[in-house]
Amino acid sequence: MAVARLTGSGGGAPPAASAFPQMLALSNVSKRFTVDDREFVAVTDVNLDIAAGEFVCVVGPSGCGKSTLLMMMAGLLAPSSGRIEMAGTEVTSPAPSRGVVFQEGGVLPWRTVLRNVTYGLELQGSGTRSERIGRAREYLRMVGLADFENRLPKELSGGMRQRLAIAQSLVCDPQVLLMDEPFGALDAFTRESLQLALLDIWENQRTTVCFVTHSVDEAVILADRIVVMAARPGRVAMEVSVPLARPRTAEVRATEEFQKIRQVVWQAMNDQSVVGSDE
Ligand SMILES: Nc1ncnc2c1ncn2[C@@H]1O[C@H](COP(=O)(O)OP(=O)(O)O)[C@@H](O)[C@H]1O
Ligand SMILES: [Mg+2]
Repeated sequence: MAVARLTGSGGGAPPAASAFPQMLALSNVSKRFTVDDREFVAVTDVNLDIAAGEFVCVVGPSGCGKSTLLMMMAGLLAPSSGRIEMAGTEVTSPAPSRGVVFQEGGVLPWRTVLRNVTYGLELQGSGTRSERIGRAREYLRMVGLADFENRLPKELSGGMRQRLAIAQSLVCDPQVLLMDEPFGALDAFTRESLQLALLDIWENQRTTVCFVTHSVDEAVILADRIVVMAARPGRVAMEVSVPLARPRTAEVRATEEFQKIRQVVWQAMNDQSVVGSDE
């Protein structure tokens, strides 16, 4: 299937990330589920390369297979056909080199904030106890939770819990961060402040990110490139590059360039919902 590539701001230079080697490579990836003895195609024939250090957002309507695709990248779900490689090696199971953050962060309710962040390091057997604590504190500072290390997750707000989930993932130094609507359950204000916090961290770490969202605005503010998916069957309909200058701040939303890109993505999503897949 042909995938149109658009540049949000009228062409020009390719995204900076194209200079980096490839980190994730999906070739002809499909996923079929069997429900009530009937096979149904959740994701079909996805070809997608994500460069090292690139920030890619995947947008699309509910049910178009975004989570399924991300779970396959994580190694939590096996493709029915096709191949997924990370840094040249086939992805066949979950690995610490791929951090995953879900909408409801996978925090451990009985552990304090600090001990939630040390947990992944304990599993990896990484460092001494005091080294793990030192490293966990560094990441808690990064996400703005330094003053909350002794709290339990239930004593945190939703936004703080998602900050904790991000620290938990990053402390294990993943090469790839896979995020499935991590801010989807938050109010608009908290959501925007977490987007900026994530951008700030990413500017420093340059981890490769694949971030699923159904918010077009969120995708435009975060991404180097937006992959627009369409439903029935779930597939990549279009890719839109986002050549907005970095580092980005909240003010970028008010720029004409931002609005133009947003419009292009909206249009792509609308076109896909009008044009049926079986034409
Ligand atoms: N384990 C599963 N078994 C059967 N169907 C599934 C399973 N997981 C997802 N689906 C179906 O696959 C489609 C894509 O789901 P999903 O990837 O969750 O979409 P999105 O994240 O874009 O909302 C949906 O129709 C969903 O019901
Ligand atoms: Mg989903």
